[in-house]
Amino acid sequence: MQKKAELYRGKAKTVYTTEDENRLILHFRNDTSAFDGQKIEQLDRKGMVNNKFNHFIMTKLEEAGIPTQLEALLSDDEALVKKLDMIPVECVVRNVAAGSITRRLGVEEGLELNPPTFEFFLKNDALHDPMVNEYHIRSFGWAKDEDIARMKELTFKVNDVLKTLFDEAGMILVDYKLEFGLFNGEIMLGDEFTPDGCRLWDKETRNKMDKDRFRQGLGSVVETYEEVANRLGVNLA
Ligand code: TMP
Ligand code: ASP
Repeated sequence: MQKKAELYRGKAKTVYTTEDENRLILHFRNDTSAFDGQKIEQLDRKGMVNNKFNHFIMTKLEEAGIPTQLEALLSDDEALVKKLDMIPVECVVRNVAAGSITRRLGVEEGLELNPPTFEFFLKNDALHDPMVNEYHIRSFGWAKDEDIARMKELTFKVNDVLKTLFDEAGMILVDYKLEFGLFNGEIMLGDEFTPDGCRLWDKETRNKMDKDRFRQGLGSVVETYEEVANRLGVNLA
């Protein structure tokens, strides 16, 4: 499948149309952004690592019965996906407190959250992705009741699958963000699952192995993503 025209340029990926109106091509760029796009840098190999990482994770999720938009890896940094009608909210599950919840609720980073929390955020950089609840989603017509319920169900199912996967590779899945869309009326997981959109800590040392390395200027960003990939057995060759 060939790229036809640029449909949308995000902060880290560009989306292209194809000859098939129901299929898109995602190009994972090396751009790495944080703080709603205020900090942006090009990191060598990141597009390739995230594309292959995303393919590996989405395949595991499909095998566990979670519908995803991913169809095929096309090249080192491109993937073929179904064209979803995206729902403009982000679904976040937290197993351990870190990031915005520590500031919002004044809790210590590292506090175990049992049961895990679930939060919705509106996808809007200009408004700094404000937290919203199901009433906002319904009142503003961003999603229907049954789609909200399905997004929550699938987001927790992802937690069951990935907590174990990362644990077996010596890592703690601290939190993650998912985005969903509709394809022929069915909710499917879209966007990506990579260390750009989750927090992962080493189980022994609690070292940060995700985009917090970039946000906090800890260095070795892509090298650490590669370490995560290697531990999981992702083929980066
Ligand atoms: P937060 O602590 O900043 O609310 O983020 C929670 C998790 O969700 C963290 O792993 C980062 C991810 N996330 C994104 O990838 N993009 C976003 O726009 C937001 C709000 C969160
Ligand atoms: N992905 C968002 C951004 O670039 C938020 C973040 O990861 O910090 O700006």
